[in-house]
Amino acid sequence: MAFKKLAIGNDHTAVDMKNEIMAYVREMGIEVINVGTDSPERFNYPVSGYKVARMVADGEVDGGILICGTGVGISLSANKVHGIRAVVCSEPYSARLSRQHNNTNIVAFGARVVGIETAKDIVDAWLGAEYEGSRHQVRIDMIEEIGRTQHLAAAKA
Ligand code: RB5
Repeated sequence: MAFKKLAIGNDHTAVDMKNEIMAYVREMGIEVINVGTDSPERFNYPVSGYKVARMVADGEVDGGILICGTGVGISLSANKVHGIRAVVCSEPYSARLSRQHNNTNIVAFGARVVGIETAKDIVDAWLGAEYEGSRHQVRIDMIEEIGRTQHLAAAKA
């Protein structure tokens, strides 16, 4: 397994799910740093999305888990940080393929969308899959090119 140390973040909709997922991942022997909120008070998800993304991009942790109501806002926030590839998913198949093909470094899901057992399945699938490289790297390089330059040379042809 590629992951030894993870960061986890959430907003107010996902405190209970964050705690359950954190305990679940720690039981696997993976270190987890909690940078999310532990309060039910309204909390702006970009704060957690950014904190986890920053730690992943800076190499402080091997990957991240983000949970908000839908997983959408928090993953959008994380994806604004260069080098972050955050996937939001509601089932394990996309989570696994996002590692194998897209080399995602953050997985996100919604506490209002999936139940805890599906959330655990998503985490299992994501943590258990390895990036396959090869032809997929060309496409990831294109994604990075769009982020870096706001253009894509291959699209002009
Ligand atoms: C909070 O109400 C909700 O908007 C947030 O948790 C998330 O679903 C946003 O994408």
